[in-house]
Amino acid sequence: MMNARTGARSAIMAALIATFAVAAAQSPTTLKSAFSGDFVIGAAINKAQITGQDERGDAIIESQFNSISPENALKWQSIHPLPGKFDFSLADQYVAFGEKHHMFIVGHNLIWHNQVPAWVFRDRKGNLLTRDALLARMRAHISKVVGRYKGKIQSWDVVNEALNDDGTLRQSLWLKIIGPDYIAKAFEYAHEADPKAQLTYNDYNLEHRAKRNGAIKLIKELQAEGIPITSVGMQGHMSLNQPSLKEEDETITAFGKLGVKVAISELDIDVLPKATQQQTAEISLKVAQNATLNPYTEGLPAAVQQQLAVRYRNLFDIFLKHSGIVTRVTFWGVTDADSWLNNWPVKARTSYPLLFDRNGQPNLAFYAVLSTAKPAK
Ligand code: G3I
Repeated sequence: MMNARTGARSAIMAALIATFAVAAAQSPTTLKSAFSGDFVIGAAINKAQITGQDERGDAIIESQFNSISPENALKWQSIHPLPGKFDFSLADQYVAFGEKHHMFIVGHNLIWHNQVPAWVFRDRKGNLLTRDALLARMRAHISKVVGRYKGKIQSWDVVNEALNDDGTLRQSLWLKIIGPDYIAKAFEYAHEADPKAQLTYNDYNLEHRAKRNGAIKLIKELQAEGIPITSVGMQGHMSLNQPSLKEEDETITAFGKLGVKVAISELDIDVLPKATQQQTAEISLKVAQNATLNPYTEGLPAAVQQQLAVRYRNLFDIFLKHSGIVTRVTFWGVTDADSWLNNWPVKARTSYPLLFDRNGQPNLAFYAVLSTAKPAK
């Protein structure tokens, strides 16, 4: 039985759905056309989409998005698995896909502590390399990869996730062996290989004060040395209430003041119960399965879909407010079925973080996002 409170709640929901629908009806019908004067709209794409096996996914990508990022295809372990052995087969198809559809093509990523083979840091005897030897290896990798796609990949995530949550530099093997200037060197080598490419520092949780301040310090240091950093990638792995809208707004403003552009580079919103107290995207985190952590196996309740839609709408209002700074908004996946959040930090959950559902249909959040766009001229 419906009591007065739930009745009022459903009435509010119905009104909100109607509001999005009316606003969206007056707006363009695709994401890329809705924001064409503001920023490009991207999706991270997987192997099945790159190779054409996922026809339904490809149809969504081609119609809705004008930028792509490779979810895994360009990471070091994918293209350079063994010393001197490169495998560009999937990466070439990824770039060809973007060229065919005249998309803004992102390269993700060059230097990261994850998905990099162990041999990269060691000599033939298994000892850690010297600084000079690792720098030489880094330069060779970057010039080969960036050089291959010169003029085709417009923007590179040069260094990924180099900061700890407290804003200090992560103790990766890159840092331990080379020292803090490994970041500047990676940018130099990327610039040398393609002087016209946009070069990005990419990380998660940059909205949090300590990490944001760490990023600001890093960017200022790079700028002081004349290192060509063009943008910051704010990954945007979010939940329904974190980060706050105020934090999002202030962080974009703060980066804009430094004279760099912002890409919202890996956007998704996790609606599932938090598996840990940490707000993180650290892939090594693993939490055991448990039914209370996976409550929506039969579908997302309307009330939660509603919260997701409102959250996306509020975020896009902020991105649009800063359209002079924000040059790209990329979703980390196409449909909910593709999302890494189905398997992280708990394996085999049913997650709902994106704008297209498991049947490839746009959800309420899709219309909420479209409703933020300026009406079509
Ligand atoms: O390729 C193997 C396949 O052969 C095997 O059968 C399968 C079994 O689990 O694993 C496959 O590899 C998986 C790979 O994705 C490709 O699907 C790895 O286990 C899995 O760990 C890997 O996860 C990726 C993760 O990065 C790794 O760090 C996610 O797809 C990808 O979405 C995620 O993306 C990162 C960004 O690069 C950086 N920012 C955070 C973001 C989310 O973690």
